[in-house]
Amino acid sequence: MAAKDSVQIAPPDGKLGILIPGIGAVSTTFMAGVEAVKRGLGAPVGSLTQLSTIRLGKRTDGRTPLIKDFVPLSTLDELVFGGWDIFEDTAYEAAVNAKVLEHDLLEKVKEPLSKIRPMKAVFDHDYVRRINGPNIKQGKTKMDKAEMLMEDIEHFRKQNGCARMVMIWCASTEVFHRPDSVHQTVKDFECGLMKNDPEIAPSQIYAYAALKSGVPFANGAPNLTTDTPALLELARERNIPICGKDFKTGQTFMKTLIAPGLKARMLGLNGWFSTNILGNRDGEVLEDPGSFKSKEETKLSVLDQILQPSLYPQLYKDLYHAVRINYYPPRGDAKEGWDNIDIFGWLGYPMQIKINFLCRDSILAAPLVLDLVLFLDLAQRAGMKGIQEWLSFYFKAPMTAPGLYPEHDIFIQLMKLKNTLRWMRGEDLITHLGLEYYD
Ligand SMILES: NC(=O)c1ccc[n+]([C@@H]2O[C@H](COP(=O)([O-])OP(=O)(O)OC[C@H]3O[C@@H](n4cnc5c(N)ncnc54)[C@H](O)[C@@H]3O)[C@@H](O)[C@H]2O)c1
Repeated sequence: MAAKDSVQIAPPDGKLGILIPGIGAVSTTFMAGVEAVKRGLGAPVGSLTQLSTIRLGKRTDGRTPLIKDFVPLSTLDELVFGGWDIFEDTAYEAAVNAKVLEHDLLEKVKEPLSKIRPMKAVFDHDYVRRINGPNIKQGKTKMDKAEMLMEDIEHFRKQNGCARMVMIWCASTEVFHRPDSVHQTVKDFECGLMKNDPEIAPSQIYAYAALKSGVPFANGAPNLTTDTPALLELARERNIPICGKDFKTGQTFMKTLIAPGLKARMLGLNGWFSTNILGNRDGEVLEDPGSFKSKEETKLSVLDQILQPSLYPQLYKDLYHAVRINYYPPRGDAKEGWDNIDIFGWLGYPMQIKINFLCRDSILAAPLVLDLVLFLDLAQRAGMKGIQEWLSFYFKAPMTAPGLYPEHDIFIQLMKLKNTLRWMRGEDLITHLGLEYYD
């Protein structure tokens, strides 16, 4: 199928401000990584925007530019970083504490990271229970706090001469909540902000402030945040792209690689037991049952959508799926995950697969942060608004239009992402039909 028109995309001129609630392991690994790449100290492994090519036209055409040469993206030199945290540590100090990157490397990027001092956070202990810090905004109402965040955003824009900005939530996972009456319309939400409605989470105050300031918003954690009619309405009203939620790294990334393969071959599944140990602050927050529930929901939803048990009851109806996360301080960020997968084949004969993934959470997440901020900014310049389903590739629980089930198969997600880029540039979409080669 040929795309009819290419989309008008404004050029990525000027500085792109990256605003990050949460100056912790993921965000400092991302910022330190960008600074390291800029200085030639490392390669941006794991990032599509920096490394991946995109095939255009027929396989025989030999046209495979780099994505970053095909669509107009900001360069790493144009990125400026800022953020909020409940702790006062600079990004350099937070990176040292996170113990993800080696001391030698951090020393080489100390200067830019030391300049990033977190602004005072909007924080509510009822939403993140295991941590406490001194760097918190005081205000009578949640609306007051939203306005303070908008002032922070404006101040950052002016101080850094930003042409555009993007906000990405890299703060702790909030306690599980479902949408409530206060989340139904923008009006309800604004009344709720003024009345300090307890159902409004800090992440939603940040998202509201971003959208009101014309700044696209991505959610890297499993919190509800923009998954509510009110904030969706605001994003569409203001023509702002949003996406989420929960970065797809580690064990869930593996799941969305393996499960589509088993299903493609019509192999059955009896059980999938996943367990993890991790010892960073994220692990500590996830010890709280409320925060764990948010994570569990996004992690569990994946298999159901990929396997479609209602269409294939004899293969997947009785699947037992469990996910455990155990806080184990000695491991720090070097998480270890185990998966035991009980499958069955021809005539129901059982088999097992074991996966032992010794990963590094923040090393897997950092390139996702980079791609998301660059692609969200591209979407904004291309006039795309509301949920950006083509960015599902990056998330455990992709946001979708109400009533639509999310696509979790990573290969379909990648095809969707690349076809969206082709569509933006007026190139033919790739269907993989391929019959024309045999005419
Ligand atoms: N690392 C991964 O692979 C991965 C994958 C998926 C999702 N995530 C999510 O990304 C988020 C960040 O992970 P991390 O390992 O960097 O965690 P982290 O604990 O190192 O960093 C989170 C930071 O957020 C701060 N914070 C908490 N509430 C805040 C608020 N209201 N405003 C501003 N700052 C606040 C904390 O003080 C902390 O410094 C977590 O929610 C995690 O679940 C991480």
